[in-house]
Amino acid sequence: MDTNTYFRYFDLESIDVTLKFCQYEYGDVNCVVWDAAIVLAKYLENLFVQKKETFESKTVIELGSGLGCVGLTAACFGGIVTLTDLSENVQQLKQNIDENKHFLKGKAQSITLKWGTTFESEPFDFLLMADCIYYPEVIEALVKTMIELTTPNTVILISQELRETEKQKNTWKMFIDLLTEYFTLSYIPEEEQHPIYRSSDIVLINAKKKK
Ligand SMILES: C[S@@+](CC[C@H](N)C(=O)[O-])C[C@H]1O[C@@H](n2cnc3c(N)ncnc32)[C@H](O)[C@@H]1O
Repeated sequence: MDTNTYFRYFDLESIDVTLKFCQYEYGDVNCVVWDAAIVLAKYLENLFVQKKETFESKTVIELGSGLGCVGLTAACFGGIVTLTDLSENVQQLKQNIDENKHFLKGKAQSITLKWGTTFESEPFDFLLMADCIYYPEVIEALVKTMIELTTPNTVILISQELRETEKQKNTWKMFIDLLTEYFTLSYIPEEEQHPIYRSSDIVLINAKKKK
């Protein structure tokens, strides 16, 4: 571990697990666990505690995994999870999976998936993504990937911190406008989210592919 790295711990109290992530003091957007990931991971835990959703034997894909908090949480609850990111970030993702592999009730693997490129796979039961809406130039590619990997039966959960700059507001609008052409969206109210790990500036969306 060099001076640029430090550990971040994330508790899943309901199953007595503490995930450990190696974060970087300086680096690109994948170098820390973002708040939107915490909100989504804690929502998954809530589904487990309140609705007995175990993810057991369900196939799960996470887009733009970063350090993998969301995907690893799904794997702790039994999911067969594919965590994905740009090729230059997959090694770091793999290290975090290895660090936590003894906690996984399901499975986790990391692979390269650049949005918009073809990825041969059966459709997934769940598609998860946290804080992936930053750059207008990749929105079309991201939605294309979402379309390719899902069916109307896929549960799609999107968590995003809404930022106040004009560029971020426009990018989010561009994403939502395109997404609603292919998916029906419902916003998960804060009261249905984790009682502590939720925030008025982070939206959680449940999307369903249109038939
Ligand atoms: C803000 S980070 C969020 C990371 C993680 N989901 C979290 O919330 O902690 C955005 C992630 O999307 C990935 N990403 C950005 N553009 C991408 C692209 N074109 N294809 C695949 N992944 C991409 C980045 O590498 C980064 O890991």
